[in-house]
Amino acid sequence: MKKKIRVGIVGCGAIGSYLAKTITARFQNFAVLEALTDLRPEKAAALVRKLRTKVRILNQEDLVRSCDLIIEAASAKAVGPVVRKVLHRRKRVLVMSVGGLISDPGLLKQIQASNGRVFVPSGALTGIDGLLAARMGKIKKVSLVTRKPPRAFAGVEFLEERNIHLNKLTREKLLFSGPAIRAVKAFPQNINVAAVLSLAGIGPAKTQVKIYAVPSLKRNVHRVEIEGDFGRMVTQTENVPAPGNSKTSYLAALASAAMLKKIFGTLQIGT
Ligand SMILES: NC(=O)c1ccc[n+]([C@@H]2O[C@H](COP(=O)([O-])OP(=O)(O)OC[C@H]3O[C@@H](n4cnc5c(N)ncnc54)[C@H](O)[C@@H]3O)[C@@H](O)[C@H]2O)c1
Repeated sequence: MKKKIRVGIVGCGAIGSYLAKTITARFQNFAVLEALTDLRPEKAAALVRKLRTKVRILNQEDLVRSCDLIIEAASAKAVGPVVRKVLHRRKRVLVMSVGGLISDPGLLKQIQASNGRVFVPSGALTGIDGLLAARMGKIKKVSLVTRKPPRAFAGVEFLEERNIHLNKLTREKLLFSGPAIRAVKAFPQNINVAAVLSLAGIGPAKTQVKIYAVPSLKRNVHRVEIEGDFGRMVTQTENVPAPGNSKTSYLAALASAAMLKKIFGTLQIGT
């Protein structure tokens, strides 16, 4: 029998909780959930109670030491410290807060030079599989158009500084047009989709992003368009929120579980 992979989760919110349940209920033949950690220890304790299995609550250092595969599902700020600890020990890490990767060029270089492994799921976007294939040839253009209901932009400093108010909006309004590198700074809640697309394709300076507020929308909609040697590809994803966090798309949690399945399994499908 194969040795089970010991998994540790950093961040016990919507995605961390979903993955913890998935590992204990569906991947128990391949993996064992070894440890959890959270900035708010009560969240880790609450998750352990819900799981009804023996899982240790450790600090970050001890969690990395005692696990083979670490899942970061915490925040962009957590990415640097977690990934560096994992690489130091030549282990494997799955990163959800992808914005934390592209905003730290030093970390990306460290990853490339390391003997560890870093997994980035496609998250709330579709089309990443095709983009990865297209990248093996030449890519001319990668663009992302995101449409969200106005309430999704509450508290965005970029809009407040420009005196843009969306509460009385009756028609769709273009809020941003420019490269992903600027989009992720202006709209931090759009950071992960733009970051995944940039990493998979032609980088944050060349990936073009448009962001609209649309009053009639109930879902977050991402339209990706890619042109290259292969031809042209257009995908549209209409996301419903994940249980436990209305700002996180359910597909992002599902994509991370699908990536775990790929890591644990022997038959790997898709790019
Ligand atoms: N890749 C994607 O497409 C995608 C999609 C949605 C969300 N995300 C990102 O994934 C991460 C998790 O999302 P979520 O919906 O589960 O968030 P969440 O807010 O529901 O949970 C995050 C948890 O992490 C904890 N936390 C925060 N900083 C921490 C740290 N430094 N160390 C330990 N714990 C910490 C919080 O206390 C909280 O319990 C977020 O950064 C989010 O932006 C990525």
